Amino acid sequence: MKFTLLHSDPKSKARAGSVTTDHGEIQTPIFMPVGTAGTVKAVHQRELKEDVEAQIILGNTYHLYLRPGLEILEKAGGLHKFNGWDRPILTDSGGYQVFSLAGTRKINEEGVVFKSHIDGSKHQFTPENVMDIQRSIGADIIMAFDECTPYPCEFGYARKSMEMTHRWLKRCIDRFDSTEGKYGYHQSLFPIVQGSVYPDLRKQSAEFIASCDREGNAIGGLSVGEPAEMMYEMTEQVTDILPSAKPRYLMGVGTPANILECIALGVDMFDCVMPTRNARNGMLFTSEGILNMRNEKWKDDFSPIDPTIGGYVSTFYSKAYLRHLTISKEILAAQIASIHNLSFYLWLVKEARKHIIEGDFSVWKDQMVKKVSTRL
Ligand code: GUN
Repeated sequence: MKFTLLHSDPKSKARAGSVTTDHGEIQTPIFMPVGTAGTVKAVHQRELKEDVEAQIILGNTYHLYLRPGLEILEKAGGLHKFNGWDRPILTDSGGYQVFSLAGTRKINEEGVVFKSHIDGSKHQFTPENVMDIQRSIGADIIMAFDECTPYPCEFGYARKSMEMTHRWLKRCIDRFDSTEGKYGYHQSLFPIVQGSVYPDLRKQSAEFIASCDREGNAIGGLSVGEPAEMMYEMTEQVTDILPSAKPRYLMGVGTPANILECIALGVDMFDCVMPTRNARNGMLFTSEGILNMRNEKWKDDFSPIDPTIGGYVSTFYSKAYLRHLTISKEILAAQIASIHNLSFYLWLVKEARKHIIEGDFSVWKDQMVKKVSTRL
């Protein structure tokens, strides 16, 4: 994997770059649509490429390990072959999903024992087997096994948890570096900074993660209910420490405004379920603001969903038609809304990149944050 830094914004910490993987190039800053179970919900691969223009998608170790399971994924030749997505894939390590989804779970130094949310069966994740599982799934970028602390979280717990995440990271690295990809292409391991909302812990964690000298670094434990200002403070503190010559990935963030603010703080990669999950609930993100498609206001508004961003779905379908589909609970409503929201997120990061390169990012960002946060 190669990261090239192309431009740095003089008035903020925003950067434009590119990441080259064996499955192609990713232009940063980038948003990665979430494809939890090997599918970005309601969007098929051709739409992801041609309409959304996604450059990389995310998968989840927890879900893919439980279903379809490693035997099937290996037999298929990895997730790329299984789902037909031939561009880069990143997998999250499962720790976060175990904590948010699994039934009873027990965490100790060895790892996490949990019960499947599908059939209640018992499983264990350890730093070692999570590396092996991600080798089998075959993602281009795989994530270290960590504990994402909740918010609020007492200092004592946050410190102990962070220290364990660091010990787990050493075990991840040992296992990862002593094994090879199963399908003939390169895989990269990204470690994750933790430390809750405590500046001392964030500093310690960022320094430790930087010292591990991997190909890219991630920031976790944020966007878990803390105020946005706190998230920005922690992000800035960490991006100031993580090396500038490597991509920085802020996990699970966020709203369009969150993404713009964190690009300004030096983050290069983002993922979030928000554009797809909210789409399925009738919430649309557009270049003019946020629309609730159930609102009566759109019933005879025959203007396109969002002509500014271009793209087939956003210019072809009207607000009135999408409102009708939403109210009628038609499957097509979820498809149109998901494709539109993802197209908007990808448009937003592409515009950000353009303005970083052109040199007027900060001015553009401040105007855009106001627009995208307006409820229409
Ligand atoms: N997704 C959102 N936040 C996190 C985090 O802290 N850790 C992991 N592994 N995934 C996340």
